[in-house]
Amino acid sequence: MQLNPWGSESIKDYDKLTHEFGMQRMPDLGIDNHYFRRGIIFGHRDFDKFWKDFKAKKPVSILTGIMPSGPMHFGHKMVVDQCVFYQNQGIKTRVLVADVEARTTRGTTKEDAERYALEEYLPNWIALGLDPKKSVIYAQSNYGVPYYSFYSLLSGRTTLNEMQAVYGELSPGKIMSAMVQMGDILHPQLPDYDGPSRVLVPVGADQDPHIRLARDLAEKEHLVKPAATFHRFATGIGGSKMSSSKPNSYISLNDPIEVAVKKALNALTGGCNTAAEQKETGGKIEECVVYELYAYHFMPDDKELTEIYRKCTSGEMLCGECKRILREKVEKFMKAHAAKREKAKKQVEKMGVFR
Ligand code: TRP
Ligand code: SF4
Repeated sequence: MQLNPWGSESIKDYDKLTHEFGMQRMPDLGIDNHYFRRGIIFGHRDFDKFWKDFKAKKPVSILTGIMPSGPMHFGHKMVVDQCVFYQNQGIKTRVLVADVEARTTRGTTKEDAERYALEEYLPNWIALGLDPKKSVIYAQSNYGVPYYSFYSLLSGRTTLNEMQAVYGELSPGKIMSAMVQMGDILHPQLPDYDGPSRVLVPVGADQDPHIRLARDLAEKEHLVKPAATFHRFATGIGGSKMSSSKPNSYISLNDPIEVAVKKALNALTGGCNTAAEQKETGGKIEECVVYELYAYHFMPDDKELTEIYRKCTSGEMLCGECKRILREKVEKFMKAHAAKREKAKKQVEKMGVFR
């Protein structure tokens, strides 16, 4: 098994993954957030240490990055929601636009990367609750000199062999973007920024190779090893991974309401061939993308979600009725979100992320 941070494969067996890569299973720390409560964040490295440091009021921060190589979809939303959660706890938050990575590994043009960032990503982050005044938001292509000299020097602390063992097949572009990401994850600990401190990186499970290399480099540089949490991938509308390279797989946060609703209503369900059968056996909820949309995005209230679970698995409710609820939820969310995003666009203009 090899994790490919630049691929778009989906992961089927999260137990096997945690086991093979020596990740830790996320224990129940009683954290009141649906990504934790529902096991959507399934694995971690040193999250327990991070949380302990935070509770003990030691210096901690979080950092994550998103590639502006296509529309921002509900898979990306998961990581932003988590950043908002930490920020609301009072934890210092950094979110970066991985435009160097988009350009070196996906061939995204400078114009497209900036347009996606300024028109889609940043306004959506703010609309989801990220407070730009309390966050460091930067683009990889336009940041501080200590960060640039640091990541180029880090390249001398690893070898091609080590990188191949972690990443598999490499190209100069992938090596570059991996080193930039090392700079992202480790630079908060430089004297020019926060100094030595525990940095938590919330990411999708495919990013673990980067986390492993960053932890190894931290040790060599006598820094605190960064912590990470790993969340499950968002399942695409048709059942494979939600990916910006497959337009039919995702719902974009920028989709017009009717488009988002239409895509949501097309999602794969766990319904049976006939109504009679489903009333008898109940829905196959573990295969149902509609249920995942509720669990990840549209039903943060556990009571409401549990009721869906009960009605589905008992056969009391069929998919048609269930999708009527989904339609309402998606409409309501998209409408409110679009209004917040339009307001946020004005804020983004003043931020000067690329200049
Ligand atoms: N590689 C990440 C992605 O594919 C983006 C990214 C860049 C990132 N730098 C980071 C993620 C630092 C976490 C931390 O989306
Ligand atoms: Fe999915 Fe709802 Fe159908 Fe159950 S009833 S399988 S949750 S769409």
